[in-house]
Amino acid sequence: MNEQQLIETARRMVANDKGLLAMDESNPTCNKRFAKLAIPQNVETRRAYRELIVTTPHLGECISGAILYDETIRQHKKDGTPFIKVLSDAGIIPGIKVDSGAKDLAAHPGEKITEGLDGLRDRLKEYFQMGARFAKWRAVIAVGSGIPSLGCIEANAQALARYAGLCQEAGLVPVVEPEVLMEGDHSLERCRETTTGVLLTVFSHLYTQRVMLEGMILKANMVLPGLVCPKQESVNEVADATVKCLLRSVPAAVPAIAFLSGGQSCELASARLNAMNAGSKPSLPWGLAFSFARAIQQPALEIWKGDEANVRAAQDALYHRAQCNRAARRGEYSPAMEETRVLTHA
Ligand code: 13P
Repeated sequence: MNEQQLIETARRMVANDKGLLAMDESNPTCNKRFAKLAIPQNVETRRAYRELIVTTPHLGECISGAILYDETIRQHKKDGTPFIKVLSDAGIIPGIKVDSGAKDLAAHPGEKITEGLDGLRDRLKEYFQMGARFAKWRAVIAVGSGIPSLGCIEANAQALARYAGLCQEAGLVPVVEPEVLMEGDHSLERCRETTTGVLLTVFSHLYTQRVMLEGMILKANMVLPGLVCPKQESVNEVADATVKCLLRSVPAAVPAIAFLSGGQSCELASARLNAMNAGSKPSLPWGLAFSFARAIQQPALEIWKGDEANVRAAQDALYHRAQCNRAARRGEYSPAMEETRVLTHA
């Protein structure tokens, strides 16, 4: 393991107030999002959509790394240029999702375990040779009556730690993502308690597996009330609860925490990230960045709708969200930004 290189890559992944663009939807997830908009679900439309994303002008001003999926990392622009080269030329570090999805956890109804450790060492070697410099593994933790169980939290935390160790061995920075889901009617307080417990368990396993914390990124959920909880706290209350939870559970050696959006609206995800950075940035031990999929891509996908004629307008929308989130890293986002869109093709 080249420690210095891992530390340097992790630093570059969150440098200059940029963040990560997650475009690593598995084929079933991507197809599901296409189906909602009546976009044909096949390898060519998925390729065309990903070409739209990676060729968005000026994307590298706000995005430092892009997380790809196995199908996507092997794809090319229509003119034959590999996506990996397009990203690298734009100053964007290519990353790769390496888990093989969340499956039912035996004897734990309603809970999932993320799989993908078998053969991972060889896959990581191949991705590194292809040009990837970081990887992602997502564990999902559902909140409900009697869950999450200790069995679910422990099994997922151990898998995350084993994945992270293998990544560092292969020269890839692990993005460690234990996601406490928003689905449900649980309170913000319940999400805070659950997230704290999950993160403490994950870091205990990372320690046991000898993962170098300086050479990883934590991808965390914000501390939020459940989607259908009747009480929805304000932007500042969410920001405050999230920062307090992370201060209690994430070691200072971790360079940055990049949030997932998890089903929040684009505007709320930006506003909450902004409130965290505006309020406490100078006193925090790690950077607070973003690694959004839906909260960056969704408006672009809805404009594109599978039609070549809409590519430029969709790219403008993607660039706009990337800009809003970079501003949020600086504590400079405001809802007024939503009205004043800079067009990348202007
Ligand atoms: P969302 O931002 O859409 O939650 O996706 C982030 C992600 O990469 C989930 O693994």
